[in-house]
Amino acid sequence: MNLLAAAVLVSVISIANAFSRNDFPPHFLFGASTSAYQVEGAANEDGRKPSIWDTFAHAGNGGLYKGDGDIACDQYHKYKDDVQLMSKMGLDAYRFSISWSRLIPDGRGPINPKGLEYYNNLINELTSQGIQPHVTLYHWDLPQALEDEYGGWVSRRIIKDFTAYADICFREFGDRVKHWTTVNEGNVVSIGGYDAGFLPPQRCSPSSIFNCSKGNSSTEPYLVTHHMLLAHASAARLYRIKYKAKQHGFIGFNLLFFGFVPLTNTSEDIIATQRAQDFYTGWFMNPFIFGEYPDIMKKNVGLRLPFFTSRESNLVKGSIDFLGINFYYAFYIKNNAKSLQKKNRDYTADTAVEFKPFPGNGTSTDEIPVIPWILQELLHSLKNNYGNFPIYIHETGQQTRRNSSLDDWPRVKYMNEYIGSLLDMLRNGLNIRGYFVWSFLDVFELLGGYKASFGLYYIDLEDPTLRRQPKLSSVWYSNFLNNRTMDSKITLKIKDNSSAVSNTPLMHAST
Ligand SMILES: *[C@@H]1O[C@H](CO)[C@@H](O)[C@H](O)[C@H]1NC(C)=O
Ligand SMILES: *[C@@H]1O[C@H](CO)[C@@H](O)[C@H](O)[C@H]1NC(C)=O
Ligand SMILES: *[C@@H]1O[C@H](CO)[C@@H](O)[C@H](O)[C@H]1NC(C)=O
Ligand SMILES: *[C@@H]1O[C@H](CO)[C@@H](O)[C@H](O)[C@H]1NC(C)=O
Ligand SMILES: *[C@@H]1O[C@H](CO)[C@@H](O)[C@H](O)[C@H]1NC(C)=O
Ligand SMILES: *[C@@H]1O[C@H](CO)[C@@H](O)[C@H](O)[C@H]1NC(C)=O
Ligand SMILES: *[C@@H]1O[C@H](CO)[C@@H](O)[C@H](O)[C@H]1NC(C)=O
Repeated sequence: MNLLAAAVLVSVISIANAFSRNDFPPHFLFGASTSAYQVEGAANEDGRKPSIWDTFAHAGNGGLYKGDGDIACDQYHKYKDDVQLMSKMGLDAYRFSISWSRLIPDGRGPINPKGLEYYNNLINELTSQGIQPHVTLYHWDLPQALEDEYGGWVSRRIIKDFTAYADICFREFGDRVKHWTTVNEGNVVSIGGYDAGFLPPQRCSPSSIFNCSKGNSSTEPYLVTHHMLLAHASAARLYRIKYKAKQHGFIGFNLLFFGFVPLTNTSEDIIATQRAQDFYTGWFMNPFIFGEYPDIMKKNVGLRLPFFTSRESNLVKGSIDFLGINFYYAFYIKNNAKSLQKKNRDYTADTAVEFKPFPGNGTSTDEIPVIPWILQELLHSLKNNYGNFPIYIHETGQQTRRNSSLDDWPRVKYMNEYIGSLLDMLRNGLNIRGYFVWSFLDVFELLGGYKASFGLYYIDLEDPTLRRQPKLSSVWYSNFLNNRTMDSKITLKIKDNSSAVSNTPLMHAST
């Protein structure tokens, strides 16, 4: 073993012992995440009808990925075994979503009794093992029936249907579910589905590089966000009036955050970086906290930006009890004033910024950069701008190729760095209440299909039983959660693989 490898070995072991579960506040939650379309399978069983994701996946989709969620991880049939694994692992909480079109196949109208039974079973299984269910109502899978009928989120009619769906979930499951997230990555829904058009329902202007058969990237992203904010606020109001006193739960919303870093120290790029954050997340955060859109959006978007009546503004303002944050990537931001001179500007042109690659930005099959300090800066600026409300890290996670080794070193390193940094963040006064790894299993990835994997458990798709196989990361997380020091098996692997790890930048580890 050379000197470098020896140093790395010492460093890996000392990192592994640098903190324990016990260092975290007792009520801090550690969990793992999935979503309905990505794990359930049983897409055509027991009365479920298609969502816009079924339609999109079955249509093939411009080479983004191949595959669909027809079978996925088959959690619909295997939920008992999965909950058993979660329990052994020591998870405090499981974040999953409800498939709207399984519970209410046409989006509104009659409840599907089999769908109701499934979610009751899953929730009961979790709570009987002492695992908190953290439930997302909308993880991108709009019932196709509502898309066909009135265009889904582009229509105001969605507000009423979403509220009625939420009402049923609160009524049926709220005795056991205390954490509700109305929408996952609301900003990606609008940008991916209605500006760029690469996500369902694939609406965009003809000028987009994607071939959308309908849509308008100048107007629809703004309409969709507006309706999402009102639908969220309407569901939150309903919960507070009708259920909160009895059920004592909390309602949140989830956004994808990027780390934005100015490309240069010119004031143009520094202002552009703030503008990018206003467009990507202030778009939602300002309404939640102040009841209106950021000034820069009003200025750049003008009359295309919908406005809140004072009644709506009061409804949206204060409508989140917590914010769910998904965090993976960072980008350099460069000012792009020219884009404001375009005619028929779309959302992207309105932002007047350009994204530049950040070192180690990752691609669909590459590793995600390990940048917890950027997350920390982001959370401090959120706190400064909007106050110290409760935050759940709903997703971070490392990507590897689906068929790579069960010794998923990059994922162990990633989790170790993020969880260690969480401790710093808590000590620095950030109001973080929980951390969920994306993802519990190797799921059907919405961007990477079955090529990419983020799971703590591997599933060989050729295996008809879809057996869950623990990766090193699941052993590592389990040891951490059970307050065990690294067991000899992992230490041995660290030793065996010290030379393999030596070219990764572990030495500077700040934990
Ligand atoms: C989008 O809507 C705007 C405002 O109604 C309109 O001026 C523009 O022509 C539309 N663009 C497309 C591509 O339909
Ligand atoms: C859009 O359609 C054109 C013509 O059919 C085709 O050449 C192009 O590859 C398509 N682009 C995408 C992103 O699918
Ligand atoms: C910008 O300024 C900061 C602080 O002075 C410095 O650390 C950073 O390297 C500078 N960035 C660039 C791109 O010059
Ligand atoms: C990531 O970085 C690579 C090379 O640094 C670049 O080619 C690629 O376009 C970047 N991807 C994104 C999404 O910025
Ligand atoms: C894993 O998948 C990649 C990309 O699809 C392929 O190049 C590679 O050969 C596969 N490796 C194994 C061990 O199957
Ligand atoms: C966890 O481990 C630490 C030290 O390794 C010990 O002090 C603490 O009592 C343990 N906590 C529990 C709950 O076992
Ligand atoms: C160590 O890593 C190498 C290459 O990355 C791999 O082939 C080997 O199986 C690993 N050894 C152990 C004990 O995990």
